[in-house]
Amino acid sequence: MKTDIPYNQLDAEGNKQGSSQRAQLCYRCLVALASVACVLLAAVAIYNFLTAPASSYHPALVSSGLQKKMESCSDPCKIVLVESIPEGLEFNSSSTNPSIFQAWISLMSEARSSVDIASFYWTLTNKDTSTQDPTASQGEEVLKRLAVLSGNLHVRIAVDSQEGKPQADLTLLENSGADIRKVDMRNLTSGVLHTKFWVVDKKHVYIGSANMDWRSLTQVKELGAVVYNCSCLAADLEKIFEAYWFVGGSQSIPSPWPSNFTTLYNKDTPLQLPLNSTPSSVYLSSSPPSFCATGRTPDLQSILSVMEDAESFIYIAVMNYLPTTEFTHPKRYWADIDTQLRRSAYEKKVRVRLLISCWQHSPPVMLPFLKSLASVHDSKNKLDIQVRLFVVPADPRQKKIPFARVNHNKYMVTDKVAYIGTSNWSGDYFLSTAGSALVVNQTDSQSAGPTVQSQLKDIFERDWHSAYSSPVTHNANLELFC
Ligand SMILES: *[C@@H]1O[C@H](CO)[C@@H](O)[C@H](O)[C@H]1NC(C)=O
Ligand SMILES: *[C@@H]1O[C@H](CO)[C@@H](O)[C@H](O)[C@H]1NC(C)=O
Ligand SMILES: *[C@@H]1O[C@H](CO)[C@@H](O)[C@H](O)[C@H]1NC(C)=O
Ligand SMILES: *[C@@H]1O[C@H](CO)[C@@H](O)[C@H](O)[C@H]1NC(C)=O
Ligand SMILES: *[C@@H]1O[C@H](CO)[C@@H](O)[C@H](O)[C@H]1NC(C)=O
Ligand SMILES: *[C@@H]1O[C@H](CO)[C@@H](O)[C@H](O)[C@H]1NC(C)=O
Repeated sequence: MKTDIPYNQLDAEGNKQGSSQRAQLCYRCLVALASVACVLLAAVAIYNFLTAPASSYHPALVSSGLQKKMESCSDPCKIVLVESIPEGLEFNSSSTNPSIFQAWISLMSEARSSVDIASFYWTLTNKDTSTQDPTASQGEEVLKRLAVLSGNLHVRIAVDSQEGKPQADLTLLENSGADIRKVDMRNLTSGVLHTKFWVVDKKHVYIGSANMDWRSLTQVKELGAVVYNCSCLAADLEKIFEAYWFVGGSQSIPSPWPSNFTTLYNKDTPLQLPLNSTPSSVYLSSSPPSFCATGRTPDLQSILSVMEDAESFIYIAVMNYLPTTEFTHPKRYWADIDTQLRRSAYEKKVRVRLLISCWQHSPPVMLPFLKSLASVHDSKNKLDIQVRLFVVPADPRQKKIPFARVNHNKYMVTDKVAYIGTSNWSGDYFLSTAGSALVVNQTDSQSAGPTVQSQLKDIFERDWHSAYSSPVTHNANLELFC
């Protein structure tokens, strides 16, 4: 990320079309006070700006209202890391964060005009999962409140159009007034819409690993971030939402994307804003690449660039980690991330830690590849990759809950940057599945308070050193582990 580009330059450099190129040229001339010719050109450009239809000048900016905000994002953005800690899990560490349930409730109570939710599937009630578990009450509460909001303000839901998933929650919301669009990712990319985020009043956002599933609030370990009072960031996440909405309407992926989906914020020119009063650079990445409009950093490039930037450590906590595709036929070897980890460990002596989930549905082929990574450990050669498996234990009652009791979080923290994502780490999630991530860089800040990076590192270390994680050793056996 280059952080030295001021908003007004970004503005000029974001311009691509004829009249805008003149504006860009002029911007520079004027700054240099170079010549009368330049001033004339400026007049022409200003004339063009005033007379051209808004959409032909800088559609992305004009139509989203970003033009003004880009000059300085002075929103009092407040970011909070939020977690779901499965019932019964206890940590020695003092690192405790507000719950995702609390975050969703507070987002709904802040909402005045709109709630947009990108989602994979909806099972917020016991009925949806054919269970009678008392811990479904939080999910049921969320659904009830969303139904009320759907009657009072504009609620839009983009959801994967998988067959065979329960529809009752969506039907209830639709009958209460919500607009719902199904995105047929299987047809479009052979993937799924796997993203999980909220945009409220075009001002507050939530992004993270939790599905719209009661288990994601009380029985599955999840991590996300909520950012309040941050319309600059919300406007950019809204563009990703609008992309799902657009595809949900047309059931086809535009190529190229219309210019109003363009973003100026990416790994090279991140959004500069205060987060908890700390100067920060931030951007949102998206996958698959066919869903990335001009300017958007694809999620894989985001992950690789965060890794390349690390100088002392890379800590990764993801549910699944595979240097392969999982769902293609035939299956493919896919080592982009794996290679970068080995390269960072070898060339820069970066300390690499992977905390991967282990449960009865873990793909068995994951273990040999994890052993292979873990074998890149040799103190003489300063190679330091370690891998651990995290197991969420279950009592007899909890064991009866299907697809629960697992560490489902998806994040990475380096000595520089915090990356909070929604994708499993195997090839499919970057090639065909829709996901997105928030990247927060506060390297330049001199702030004394905790940064997002330091908070995320605390969470990682809490889990890594907890009784729930154990090292992957040469003779480790998945069946004994999980
Ligand atoms: C974070 O910001 C620093 C300082 O501006 C920059 O050098 C670095 O490349 C950024 N890191 C990433 C991963 O974008
Ligand atoms: C996708 O949908 C189109 C239009 O409904 C249909 O003709 C096509 O067969 C579908 N493709 C796949 C791969 O399902
Ligand atoms: C957002 O800003 C409003 C108005 O300044 C303030 O009342 C509210 O507490 C803020 N929300 C959060 C979560 O900081
Ligand atoms: C861009 O414009 C189209 C057509 O008006 C609209 O459907 C779409 O939602 C807009 N995209 C964004 C990001 O606002
Ligand atoms: C991540 O991968 C697991 C195992 O393949 C899969 O069950 C799960 O659905 C994926 N994550 C989500 C929420 O799709
Ligand atoms: C807490 O610390 C004790 C003593 O060090 C250890 O035995 C126990 O496993 C730890 N519990 C967790 C959940 O990490």
